[in-house]
Amino acid sequence: MTHLSKENYLREAKNIYLYGKIYFFTPHKKAMTYIVTESCIKCKYTDCVDVCPVDCFREGPNFLVIDPDECIDCAVCVPECPVNAIYAEDDVPGDQQQFISLNLELARSWKSITKSKGSLPEAEEWKDVKNKLEHLVR
Ligand code: SF4
Ligand code: F3S
Repeated sequence: MTHLSKENYLREAKNIYLYGKIYFFTPHKKAMTYIVTESCIKCKYTDCVDVCPVDCFREGPNFLVIDPDECIDCAVCVPECPVNAIYAEDDVPGDQQQFISLNLELARSWKSITKSKGSLPEAEEWKDVKNKLEHLVR
């Protein structure tokens, strides 16, 4: 067993103290979230809701969002969406980046939805339509 000299011991103790301080005061990014994007608008199939283990979907009149503070990044909702509306935050396409802040904003005011309830009546008609943001009802 090696013994530290008093000098080395004090130096090690100082390093541990400084590293601890740096770690404590450095902001740590929250784990990634998943984001509902444009394809959901006017479709709202709601298949995604049943599989979420932490009930983090929030419902508006014609769109769903994910509460980024609740999402645990499990990804099980992704394959459930028939229109592939759900992306990991880092994979949201360039032209849909505004949905990252939109999910956060709308999750603050919309109510939780925990059971699927079927799509909107016009879903089939709108599922392949692009640029639907203007149709989002808040
Ligand atoms: Fe829920 Fe997991 Fe989807 Fe996040 S990634 S919304 S926790 S099912
Ligand atoms: Fe929307 Fe797809 Fe869920 S259309 S409601 S994200 S299943």
